[in-house]
Amino acid sequence: MNENIKYLFLPRSTAVIGASSDPNKIGYKILSNIKDGNYEGNVYPVNPKGGEILGYSVFKDINEIKEEVDLATICVPAEIVLPVVKSCAQKKVKFLSIITSGFGEIGKVKEEEELVKIARGSGMRILGPNIFGVYSAKGKLNATFGPKNIKEGNVAFITQSGALGIALMGKTQTEGIGLSAMVSEGNKADLGESDLLEYFLYDEKTKVIFLYLESLKNGELFLRIAQKLTKQKPIIVLKAGVSKRGTLAAASHTGSLAGDDKIFDAAMKQAGIIRANNVNQAITWIKFLSEAPLPKGKNTLIITNGGGAGVLTTDYCEKYNLKLRDDFDNLKKIYGDVVPYFGSTKNPIDLTGQATYIEYGKALKRAIEDKDTHSIICLGCETAVFDTKNLRTTILENYNVVRDKKPIVFSFVGGKKTEEDLLSLRFLNIPIFGESEEAVSCLGILYKHYYNIQKKTSLSQKLNLDLEGVKKIITEVKNQKRNFLLPYESEEIMKIIGVSLPQKALAKNKKEAVLLAKKIGFPVVLKVVSPQIIHKTEAGGVILDIKNEKETEASFEKIITNCQKYNSKAKIEGVEVNEMIKDGLEVIVGAKKDKNFGKILMFGLGGIYVEVFKDVSFRICPISEEEAFEMVKEIKAYPLFVGVRGEKPKDVDSLKETILKIQALIDSIPEISEIEINPLVVFDKGTKALDIRILLADYSKQS
Ligand code: COA
Repeated sequence: MNENIKYLFLPRSTAVIGASSDPNKIGYKILSNIKDGNYEGNVYPVNPKGGEILGYSVFKDINEIKEEVDLATICVPAEIVLPVVKSCAQKKVKFLSIITSGFGEIGKVKEEEELVKIARGSGMRILGPNIFGVYSAKGKLNATFGPKNIKEGNVAFITQSGALGIALMGKTQTEGIGLSAMVSEGNKADLGESDLLEYFLYDEKTKVIFLYLESLKNGELFLRIAQKLTKQKPIIVLKAGVSKRGTLAAASHTGSLAGDDKIFDAAMKQAGIIRANNVNQAITWIKFLSEAPLPKGKNTLIITNGGGAGVLTTDYCEKYNLKLRDDFDNLKKIYGDVVPYFGSTKNPIDLTGQATYIEYGKALKRAIEDKDTHSIICLGCETAVFDTKNLRTTILENYNVVRDKKPIVFSFVGGKKTEEDLLSLRFLNIPIFGESEEAVSCLGILYKHYYNIQKKTSLSQKLNLDLEGVKKIITEVKNQKRNFLLPYESEEIMKIIGVSLPQKALAKNKKEAVLLAKKIGFPVVLKVVSPQIIHKTEAGGVILDIKNEKETEASFEKIITNCQKYNSKAKIEGVEVNEMIKDGLEVIVGAKKDKNFGKILMFGLGGIYVEVFKDVSFRICPISEEEAFEMVKEIKAYPLFVGVRGEKPKDVDSLKETILKIQALIDSIPEISEIEINPLVVFDKGTKALDIRILLADYSKQS
């Protein structure tokens, strides 16, 4: 860990620059929060007026302070921030938390950069500007102008939006969520989420991390750190700027552009980060994750008194990838005497509508004691025999036994009695919900984390390709001040890296055409070759599916006649004889450089379908062979590769290899900004690249 980051959360001394005796000002509120939070280090208010505020002696300038200052919170107006930052640099303060608004978020990017430049010169780091500050439970520090008396706990919040952050701080209080830290990032002029996450990797107080993001500061670094972190602690992310309009709002709000959501989503999955769709969902999941123990295995058991509720919940279990315990013989042995003959022990354990708190109590006790049941969903629908008061006690007693041993969630549907006696248990921090999907989703998220921890990190695949020939082609293209490769250049590159192409050759006359067609094998395709004829089909310069020698001769002649008619001045160099490609599956394989995440890979259903279905998967480089396979499996059309309706399965190994070769290409040749093979045809044996596009970063513009 960057040793220094701890001084942001555990400062030994803290200054408030712009501290005020006016209780309505932010400079007063922050000082008062620090005081009331029982911060144990030295506190130094700074204000040119001097005097005393809240019992602390006020310094007229930060450089009057004799001791070291680890953290200085700046809350003076924007126009005074620069000289204040300069004095802090002189003082060699370790961290600045700049509350002040009026920088990058309103277009004053240069002013913001200037602050960072000064800070860097003295080794100082900046949080913000445009933030509400830092709260750290371990540091007993509430250097924010948010609420006082924050409940201490194990959830760390990092938020890009200040106002939403303060609101969430309030919400955590009403929901009974305890915080280990809360950091407002604001404009992220210097410190970003990656720097902050690193601290939580080692902070033993933090069990769960919640991120509210509008954009990512350094996607590549973020992923590296997040991948390590999620192996130990779950990260929930809520990302704004998903819609086109939202992206614009986010961009103007933070002064930085939000990335493409599909890529962001893929990156989060790859890093094992869980994405919430809204604030409520995020809060629900965080609360559950902060209290639930990790399961010791995959088996989930449903206990219910209603068949319908059980079936509905079974559907949700499938949606959230929960595995229901299914060794029915054992289930019968365990629950047989609790369930009436018209009930079921086939998970859901259906205690039936006549179940009282006594049957619930027995079933719960057995599920808790059963070592092959690893998590429990306890459901109920209010019935006439439902004694909610006694059931409340049963739930409480059983929850207290199991709370740190086995994950359990409850869901009850009913009227006033259910609401008052059962659902109100949520105020005692029992995971009980009116909607069973909410209960199942909590368990689903916990299992996502569980599986992520189990998942072996596969090493990325470095292919040893000899790319000298590719470099020569790229140098030649750059010399010609082009940023795109001509088809023959791209094809040459494919040959070098070992991606197969359809066979083709140029025929100058019809005799040559026949010889070539025989060599390639029928059926073939003939295409005119003329620099003046770009739209070959429109000119009548392409004929498909030519089956024999006679057809070849006739087609050759027809193409020449058509093209001469189309453009009498066109210089016709000959006719290309091409292998006719059929029976394969058209896919797209691409790679491009992304401003946020570095190099990314794309795979999907290709040809014309890519536009229509957008059935694609993304990964951030580098990926392993297993991940290349996951990319292929992730698209909806994957069953087509396995072989449907008697078709032979497609050569997925060859496809994976092509994806890895494209990765090697974009990784090793810095000039390449984009590669796309569309379509790449996948056969039952091998693949062939039909159309290849390679773009370079725009050298013509740079020179
Ligand atoms: N060093 C220290 N203190 C200084 C100073 C200096 N060089 N120059 C002025 N001050 C003092 C002022 O005298 C004042 O103290 P006083 O009340 O004793 O007079 C104090 O600093 C604050 O200055 P003031 O001009 O009163 O500003 P303010 O408190 O009205 O506003 C900000 C300051 C930072 C709060 C405001 O500019 C701002 O940015 N607000 C938005 C904050 C925000 O929303 N952030 C994002 C959260 S999500």
